[in-house]
Amino acid sequence: MSDRLFEELLEETKRLFNEKYGGAPQVVVAAPGRVNLIGEHTDYNGGFVFPMAIERCTIIAASPTTASSATIFSNNMNATSDFILKGDVTPSNEVDWTSYVQGAISFSIKKGAKVPGFNAVINSNVPLGGGLSSSASLEVAVATLMEELGGVSFGKVEKALMCQQVEHVFAKMTCGIMDQFISTLAEKDYAMLLDCRSQKPEMIPFVDPSVSVLITNSNVKHQLTGSEYPERRSCCEEAARILGVSLLRDVSLDALLASKERLVGADNGDLLFKRAFHAVSEDVRTLKTAEALKVGDWETVGAQMYASHDSLRDNYEVSCPEIDALVEIARGIGMNGGVIGSRITGGGFGGCTVSLVKTDKVDEITQILKKEYKRLVGKDATIFSTRPAQGARVL
Ligand code: GLA
Repeated sequence: MSDRLFEELLEETKRLFNEKYGGAPQVVVAAPGRVNLIGEHTDYNGGFVFPMAIERCTIIAASPTTASSATIFSNNMNATSDFILKGDVTPSNEVDWTSYVQGAISFSIKKGAKVPGFNAVINSNVPLGGGLSSSASLEVAVATLMEELGGVSFGKVEKALMCQQVEHVFAKMTCGIMDQFISTLAEKDYAMLLDCRSQKPEMIPFVDPSVSVLITNSNVKHQLTGSEYPERRSCCEEAARILGVSLLRDVSLDALLASKERLVGADNGDLLFKRAFHAVSEDVRTLKTAEALKVGDWETVGAQMYASHDSLRDNYEVSCPEIDALVEIARGIGMNGGVIGSRITGGGFGGCTVSLVKTDKVDEITQILKKEYKRLVGKDATIFSTRPAQGARVL
């Protein structure tokens, strides 16, 4: 199924390239979106995340030209734009798809890529604004293309960090490192336990064919460039400052509970405590989940996923009623009905849930989720299953 989707996307991209510019592209690259199994809003606290790449990606087909700029058609936006091939480009105040592309081009050139003029087509089947890192897949795909056209290799970690800077500077979104790391470093059949402080990934096999990853899009678009994400981030930073550490990662759950009075006594103290409690307890859940997944202890994995969701809903307050409804439907189906666990995934405020389900029950569960979501929320959910996919690559 997924191979077919990928082949279709690839063929369409090549056909569009031929239509727009004539001939076949000389270079084709792909970079995946991601789903985070657990470890939400922990990356910018130096904590642990546990994402995997999904079988949905951004493909770019390109050929060098003798022009002094780049011309790129985005099939998703149905728009063509010209891009400046310089390292020092002032980011535009308005953020749209061109911001990510121009950012990745400029940062790559600054990093030494000798990029010639080129024509390209961008085509993605990562749902936009669905919390599956469509933007990281775009940045990483462009950076991978720049390596190829510009005759350099940045190294995977360097490339991920560079793309994070693109997001900060050009998209004005102060994200952590999770999305760019997984889009760059992912390996087929592995989830990645990433220690965001040391930036050292541990690849953990996720191959049990009896368990599938089901992604359910609430079709509530999330928008993270607003004030909510930076507000959560600064709460955590403020809590860390009061507790005398540079990152919340450095506080154990016991130490946090022992220092509760100190936090609660500060301005906005109850809120700071709730936010910090989420970040610190989420690290514990993430490590437990990774250990449980290694030994196939699905009950523990599921319990951690639900606990993560509850904390994101109540302590971190980044869920929304539609997403809560999807998680409750899944929880209601339960282990006997084939659902191991379910939670919101990504930055929040809409987007998708991730559920681990028994493979032989995927169709049944999909039907129930769709029907009940429609009944309770009045919206259509879009659902697909995926296996852990490969990171950015040249095709
Ligand atoms: C967004 C950010 C990530 C991470 C998640 C929440 O996806 O880009 O860096 O903070 O939200 O876990």
